[in-house]
Amino acid sequence: MIDLHNHVLPGIDDGAADMAESVGMCRIAASEGIRVIVATPHSFDGDHVTAPNVIVSMVKSLNDAVQREGLDLRILPGMEIRVVPELLELLLAGRLLALNHGRYLLLEFQHAHVPAGFERLVGLLKEAGYGIVLGHPEKNLRIQRDREYLPKLMSSIEPWDLIIQISADSLTGSAGPDACKTARFLMKKGLVHVIATDAHSVTTRPPVLSEALADASRIVGQSRVQQMLCDVPLAILNGIGFPQLEEVVKPRRWWQIFS
Ligand SMILES: [Fe+2]
Repeated sequence: MIDLHNHVLPGIDDGAADMAESVGMCRIAASEGIRVIVATPHSFDGDHVTAPNVIVSMVKSLNDAVQREGLDLRILPGMEIRVVPELLELLLAGRLLALNHGRYLLLEFQHAHVPAGFERLVGLLKEAGYGIVLGHPEKNLRIQRDREYLPKLMSSIEPWDLIIQISADSLTGSAGPDACKTARFLMKKGLVHVIATDAHSVTTRPPVLSEALADASRIVGQSRVQQMLCDVPLAILNGIGFPQLEEVVKPRRWWQIFS
């Protein structure tokens, strides 16, 4: 599995405190069956700004440490970018880092609202050659309150220009009932492309996917979940073609087998 959103780099944001914790998170991830982690430190969120070259060099150090531990895991560079008005200028100035240096930017909204003109930003980024992975929209208050906002937005956008990533702790309910309800609603609508951990530590939000994987399989079926955790992230990272998405199939209950 590929974890596309993870704060595994040491001492760079509110994620892993130091290299020991980073390696601890990698150990948990590897035991979960995660084989690739994209390190996505916060940037331009009001508290953190990290230069792309710093992220790349920290990723190299962590890969060295992971190798010394003998873990079957690889770390790739990325960044979680807050949607700010000057986003395009930051991109053109080389201050943003796309996932694995590819053509997708991991973006996040402020907690309470959706930034004005977001639809226009999708188009402008596309013109500049970039697509968007939108991190955990199910945790956004506006999207929780106005559930039709995202389905409507997505219906007006070309497939794969806007990729929806929900977080494992939303599916399991650890992020609260509203995030859980919204995540399940988006899953049932077939609007979720990727599930990631958005892990921040070895304890409070560890890089664990297994429980969410089981929950997700019960909602949309195993084949679609496999695409969310393997095929779609792989296409994002390698710039290869996206898979034909499996139908959202709600597994039948035992009492429905004979109906
Ligand atoms: Fe994050």
